[in-house]
Amino acid sequence: MKGRDSISEGGLSELRREFRGERGDLIPVLQRVQEIQGYLRPEAIRIVSRWLKISENEIFGVATFYAQFRFHPPGLHHLRVCLGTACHVRGGEQILLTAQQRLGVDTGETTPDGKYDLDRVACLGCCALAPVVAFDQKVHSQMSVLKIQRILDEHKSA
Ligand code: FES
Repeated sequence: MKGRDSISEGGLSELRREFRGERGDLIPVLQRVQEIQGYLRPEAIRIVSRWLKISENEIFGVATFYAQFRFHPPGLHHLRVCLGTACHVRGGEQILLTAQQRLGVDTGETTPDGKYDLDRVACLGCCALAPVVAFDQKVHSQMSVLKIQRILDEHKSA
């Protein structure tokens, strides 16, 4: 049985050194797996399942509860729309809806061409500039429906 539950595939071996391998490690382990691999691959869930002795179904159930986890490869560009309180009350939902329509994807999805993915986040740490979106590494403040349309249209045609 030795090695069957080892974290050795896909660059996950370092997790053995970072965590004790207990049930309570599940969320931080999944966060690290996603950090390393970009998303939660079925093989990674299987490996974590064996290591932490938690069924794959349970891991999948826990991971789907949290919006932060992805089950498909991330897109080339990341659009994150903040829906924290400050951004929400200043029209964040409308901006998210516009981005969904413009990109043709739902939150947490990637466009079929693999170019963009769309996520909602709880706070980008600059509430005074709400509503805010982050497009790749750049934060755009005081957003509006027109501004998000313009950013996406300009980027798509670049
Ligand atoms: S709530 Fe949006 S940046 Fe804080």
